[in-house]
Amino acid sequence: MTLRSAHWYAGDDRNAYIHRAWMRRGVPDSAFTGRPQIAIANTASDLTPCNAHLSEVAQSVKNGVYEAGGIPLELPVVSLGETNVRPTAMLWRNMAAMATEEMLRANPIDGVVLLGGCDKTIPSLLMAAASVDLPAVVVPGGPMLTGHFRGEALGCGTDVWRLSEEVRAGTLSEAMFLKSESSMIRSKGHCNTMGTASTMALVAEALGTVIPGLAGTPAADARLLEAAHDTGRFAVQLVAEDRRPSSFLTKGSFHNAIVALAAIGGSTNAVVHLLAIAGRLRIDLTVDDFDRIGAEVPLLVNLQPAGRYLMDDLYRAGGFLAVLREVRDLLDSEALTITGRPLVEYLEDAKIWDADVITPRESPLQSHAGISVLRGSLAPGGALIKPAAASPHLLKHRGRAVVFDSIEDFHARIDDPDLDIDEDSVMVLRGCGPKGYPGMPEVSNMPLPTKLLERGVRDMVRICDGRMSGTAYGTVVLHVTPEAAAGGPLALVQTGDWISLDVRARRLDLDVPADELARRAPNQATVDGYANPRRGWERLYVDHVLQADRGADLDFLVGASGSEVRRESH
Ligand code: FES
Ligand code: MG
Repeated sequence: MTLRSAHWYAGDDRNAYIHRAWMRRGVPDSAFTGRPQIAIANTASDLTPCNAHLSEVAQSVKNGVYEAGGIPLELPVVSLGETNVRPTAMLWRNMAAMATEEMLRANPIDGVVLLGGCDKTIPSLLMAAASVDLPAVVVPGGPMLTGHFRGEALGCGTDVWRLSEEVRAGTLSEAMFLKSESSMIRSKGHCNTMGTASTMALVAEALGTVIPGLAGTPAADARLLEAAHDTGRFAVQLVAEDRRPSSFLTKGSFHNAIVALAAIGGSTNAVVHLLAIAGRLRIDLTVDDFDRIGAEVPLLVNLQPAGRYLMDDLYRAGGFLAVLREVRDLLDSEALTITGRPLVEYLEDAKIWDADVITPRESPLQSHAGISVLRGSLAPGGALIKPAAASPHLLKHRGRAVVFDSIEDFHARIDDPDLDIDEDSVMVLRGCGPKGYPGMPEVSNMPLPTKLLERGVRDMVRICDGRMSGTAYGTVVLHVTPEAAAGGPLALVQTGDWISLDVRARRLDLDVPADELARRAPNQATVDGYANPRRGWERLYVDHVLQADRGADLDFLVGASGSEVRRESH
């Protein structure tokens, strides 16, 4: 087999000379004569704290690549840190995916090891790998160790939301709240709750893009480096076997990802990411597949935000494969992993060591854990709710809308003592979709009004065209499609309108007669809330972004271009 990199390095002509000469810098002649060139797409960055340790992981991958006869080449790629990047890391996910795809294609590379961690990084890497269609394997950077405060475990994200609401409710002092800050992040790694980072690492393994058994290994655990070394070795073999994303990822792989997502109680963000990855592969995955496949799957993992424990506990309790073993009959037994063997073949030896963390199938935490897809006059293209993170008494609810035109409008008015709102109200926030914000930020889980918190109210129905942090909880209807800025009916809701939510019936309706709705137009404050960028990436993004039901990818990035480059650079 002729390696792709031979198109750069093989031969005696002037161009091969140029490609080789500048790369030598001490590497032996043999580096250019048939040894697979393995890129290590590294999202390490000091500004992505959850991924800052990935260069150490990259070193272990390199050792493995060398050991197996390949040439490792570290390729720093666009990195996105969830906590710093404004207005939302999601605005840049497609840019990161596009830049990574292009750099993999443009360079003399035969295969790639993808190093990600923080929320958007694994999705962007998988989107890139699917579109360039080179042999690719993921090493998730792993969750951080559990931090403690006042003798209790602190969950990243989830406990920030919880403690800050306690301050607002007057049950926790601000001084105590601030004291917890330095205990929140105990070690290297990504958030240790079942937030988006943990979810995407496990879902990547369920898809088959991680060597089974690796995902969920804590960042600080020596076994992560061992697995990274093994993956480096494996990447060389992967090139020899020419196993590309298009050759093994099927609808069945996504079926397994959806089963896994439900069983772990994973983040709703996985829906947009999986839809985007499937779009790159031209696999016909729809938002309804998440409901159809996931609805009957039991919740087996007792992790925050839906439950109690953290990722370190999940690993100790037997890990992700022990979870999958419990739902083995629901998995597609033919879907292959990156190794060429089906996922289900890896489940035989998996064992649960702590049944409080991973509950056996007979005694699930919830019997129906999947994400529900709602439709109706308020969401003709669908909206999501995660019942596992919602309050059971609100899953069927009718209430009057209190509408906010932007997140700024929300912050300005939510604690106004004169705001006409009670626990039966339905909070509506718009202008937060892919186009409207832009970038579909994680603002859907609006904090409750202080006056209601003080009265003991802890949850209300909230509706938004944005996303919600995977670490958050509450009766939140999100990803409302079409978004307000794309002409969805969400733009026309007025304060005081009745809204009906019925999760069991999968309905979300605005109880306003159709003819009255047809007479309404979005008010100026609503329209003023929509993004209207003048230039640059944001302009490109707003003009081309698809709605949440298509994974919020850019229209011209859907599909794949492969790895061929026909023209020389000199
Ligand atoms: Fe990076 Fe949560 S902020 S994983
Ligand atoms: Mg997040």
